[in-house]
Amino acid sequence: MLLEAPVYKELLGAVEIYEVQKVIKLDSETRDIGSFTVINVPREDIYKTLEEMAIVVPMKDEKLQLLDGVLKAIPHQCPIIVVSNSKREGPNLFKQEIDLIKHFYNLTHSRMIVVHQKDPGLGKAFEETGYTAILDENGTVRDGKGEGMITGILLAKALGAKYVGFVDADNYIPGAVNEYVKDYAAGFLMSESEYTMVRLSWRHKPKVTTRGLYFRKWGRVSEITNRYMNSLFGVATNFETSIIATGNAGEHAMTLKLAEIMPFSTGYSIEPYELVYLFETFGEWGSDRHSEVYDQGIEIFQIETLNPHLHEDKGQEHVKQMILSSLGTIFHSKLATETIRKNILEELRIHGLLKEGEEPPRPLVMPPIEDVDVKKWMEVLEEESDTLLKFEV
Ligand code: GDD
Ligand code: MG
Repeated sequence: MLLEAPVYKELLGAVEIYEVQKVIKLDSETRDIGSFTVINVPREDIYKTLEEMAIVVPMKDEKLQLLDGVLKAIPHQCPIIVVSNSKREGPNLFKQEIDLIKHFYNLTHSRMIVVHQKDPGLGKAFEETGYTAILDENGTVRDGKGEGMITGILLAKALGAKYVGFVDADNYIPGAVNEYVKDYAAGFLMSESEYTMVRLSWRHKPKVTTRGLYFRKWGRVSEITNRYMNSLFGVATNFETSIIATGNAGEHAMTLKLAEIMPFSTGYSIEPYELVYLFETFGEWGSDRHSEVYDQGIEIFQIETLNPHLHEDKGQEHVKQMILSSLGTIFHSKLATETIRKNILEELRIHGLLKEGEEPPRPLVMPPIEDVDVKKWMEVLEEESDTLLKFEV
């Protein structure tokens, strides 16, 4: 793969964030292309890296045709982890998903793990390993994409993966999903630190309009979140910036070493909170138990995909909630200044998302998973779960 070489990066303490790098050629193998402004990540290296990458697909009530395309598009080397929170009655969508996954396995023999988020056995595995922050009052895992992702990260760790990547289940373009996973690998191959994150930004996000297909560059949520995320970064460095283009990147990946030490927040606030946490914690030099992280630094790559991103439209209410929870992570950050807070409140009032005197929600933060005994967690899960399915090669 040929990518623009990152000419520019911003530093905040131990955090290095690279400017957006465009994919210039999806597939390449020659090692030397004789250009300093273009990086070549050879296909062979990408395929080697894929073998160590688990792909988590969080899913809730999506169309089966879309899941089918996503499963078929994930490169064969990567184990697939599906964490579903789909309906189990009236109609039983989860059963239909399982049927589809079994059929897919019979055809491909892909390595896969599937579990339902509300499986009481999964709740018990978290309970018995002391990770109760993810549980609701009934002892089952709470609803939420973030909660599904954390479950996926633990499964990836149990599999021994070195990297974990996320792809949404509602993607209409299988070829795009195939590219995303390879983009993650390219990001890891460019990094020097074992604590690396790769976040994708879209070349375009097509919308159907009265004038035909319109290839929008920015979604509304992303535009707003990125603006405030950049302000937050800017006040921390004292230099205004526009480097952050992936505040909401649902399509992203990280080394397991990084995933283990990060606290995660709930639902759709998970992705913006990852950045806020990294800026807050590693933005200044510290010497606590993460000394290795400070030594190596945290690298954040932002890759602009070649493919457009076309996914299910979940409606205006959903978009509003996403803006609210994304800006909540920035508003409540200890890095946020009075001016940033004031501007966020104004922004949310303009969009009719907040009334006078109200504040956006404070993110509900769950601790890092590093202290969870994953062997025990997996044993309890295997013993108690009634939805866990493991497909081996
Ligand atoms: N396991 C699980 N549990 N999955 C869930 C849940 C849940 O409670 N809720 C939603 N999902 C799944 C969806 O089925 C989909 O595969 C994925 O999470 C993303 O959810 P969408 O509802 O499609 O969100 P979106 O498309 O509006 O937003 C996506 O893109 C944003 C960036 O543009 C998400 O990935 C966001 O997290 C991201 O910020
Ligand atoms: Mg979606």
